Amino acid sequence: MSKRNIFIGGAWPYANYYLHVGHLAALLPGDILAKYFRGKGDNVIYVSGSDCHGTPITERARKDGVTPESIATFYHNEFTKTFAKIGFEYDEYSSTMTEHHQKYVMAQFQKMLDNGYIYEKEQMQDYCDNCQTYLSDREITGTCPRCQGPSTGDQCENCGASLDSSEVLDKHCQKCGNKTIMKTNKHLYFNLPEFKNQLQELIDKNKNTWRKNAVGEAQKYIDTGLVERAATRQLDWGVPVPVSGYEDKRVYVWIEAVLGYLSVGDYVASKRGINFDEFMADSNPNLKTYYVHGKDNIPFHTTIYPALILAINNHYRLPDYIVSSAYVNLNQEKMSKSKGNLITVNELLEMFDSDTLRFYFAFKGPETNDMNCSIEDIIQTHNKFLVGILGNFINRNLSFINKKFDGIIKEAPIDEEIINQTRQAFQIVGDYFEKAEIKNAIKEIIEYLANANKYYDSQKPWQLVKENLSEFNKTTYTCTYIIANIANMIKPILPNASKKIKEMLNLPEYKWEEQTISGDYKINNLQIIYDRLDENLLDSIEEKQEQK
Ligand code: MF3
Ligand code: ZN
Repeated sequence: MSKRNIFIGGAWPYANYYLHVGHLAALLPGDILAKYFRGKGDNVIYVSGSDCHGTPITERARKDGVTPESIATFYHNEFTKTFAKIGFEYDEYSSTMTEHHQKYVMAQFQKMLDNGYIYEKEQMQDYCDNCQTYLSDREITGTCPRCQGPSTGDQCENCGASLDSSEVLDKHCQKCGNKTIMKTNKHLYFNLPEFKNQLQELIDKNKNTWRKNAVGEAQKYIDTGLVERAATRQLDWGVPVPVSGYEDKRVYVWIEAVLGYLSVGDYVASKRGINFDEFMADSNPNLKTYYVHGKDNIPFHTTIYPALILAINNHYRLPDYIVSSAYVNLNQEKMSKSKGNLITVNELLEMFDSDTLRFYFAFKGPETNDMNCSIEDIIQTHNKFLVGILGNFINRNLSFINKKFDGIIKEAPIDEEIINQTRQAFQIVGDYFEKAEIKNAIKEIIEYLANANKYYDSQKPWQLVKENLSEFNKTTYTCTYIIANIANMIKPILPNASKKIKEMLNLPEYKWEEQTISGDYKINNLQIIYDRLDENLLDSIEEKQEQK
């Protein structure tokens, strides 16, 4: 098969707090797919970056009394380190603060203006005469019309009602306390309803490749009625609007952030000396595009982003695969920063090997339903699968040979049935990866490993070694072949273990294909692939948590 173009976009986390387990579970499929497709030899562009603009960042900065830029820079650097530790290999992990991104977004914004899909509208907005600025809903304090309690411009702090700023009573500027006035303001709007039919066609065309929740949410979003969306915001932090008279406004963060896929894709392509317009051309039958994120991101990736691509009109492919995950609950509870029960990826990495976490969140991940995460479950999953099934097979073979034969594995015929099973496994697992059905892929890998253990048990090499050395050598060589193939098969999920196996047996670099072996092998520095985790670990972790 000829090389394909594979574009994978991982969602851009807001740079206002550390990455937590929800991010990991939602974004992991992207890295797994990238490793798989690279192993196939395809042209992969896998990108993401930090979402550094918008109110999540400015709010956080205001609370901390620092600049948005310093908050965003700090967490962007943290994200970069954390992603590296968990084994993510983006072709580029960027940020919305780069000059390239800003220029790119401004150029695309201009095209949408030129094409008539972004246009100006005037409307009345709250204004503070003292500060000489228009006020967003959150910059207003007032009185709730329902309960008379204190409210912002869009929500009552007392009864929680969500409000329209026009109904809030006695409005004041949050900053200076001045009474607000109404003043006409102009904003640019994006004509989302214009694309209704094309978005409906997109859903229909992809209902078997987008995850179910994505199809459902996108349909709901269209059915409730698409409305034009503000493309500019009254802010001084973000990408400038390329229109004069808009110096006090910035491009609305979601429009800007989703275009990051293309700005960074374009950046990677040009670094490789390839033409991104050709890479992403809708007309290319050899292109597949994947977008990986949590379910709260679905409307933006299934409607707004495709509509922007259509409005820019550069004939880029719209999302072929929407890989949208559900949520992670912690010990049966909803996780949130305010509850204080949020586990960060860094915290988990202090307790566990990155393979352990990758396996856990891939195998037990929220692919179709919310998942429940607990430390106990991580430990049990590690012990059951990584130690009990994977580690056990490799270890029982290699340590025996190391002890009895000085680590020398003699060449011998490989069991035909096992060769067939192996080729089949690559096929089946690969087909699941292509569809981003990660759990099914892992189930097949486990099945393959279980068969390997069965083969070993039925051959009884511990007896053969005494009775029939040539049969023993066949079994051992066949098991070595299996181990060599496991190293390729687990690489997308378990890169550390794959590397260890490759080092021990001096195997060629990972490819997603059958690993043939020939000649004798000598085991290089026997290593245990995974240690069993003590269930008591849980107690010591809980103690540590309590001390926090
Ligand atoms: N920052 C958003 C979030 O954390 C995700 C943005 S994805 C992007 O929910 F593609 F728009 F950048
Ligand atoms: Zn004011």
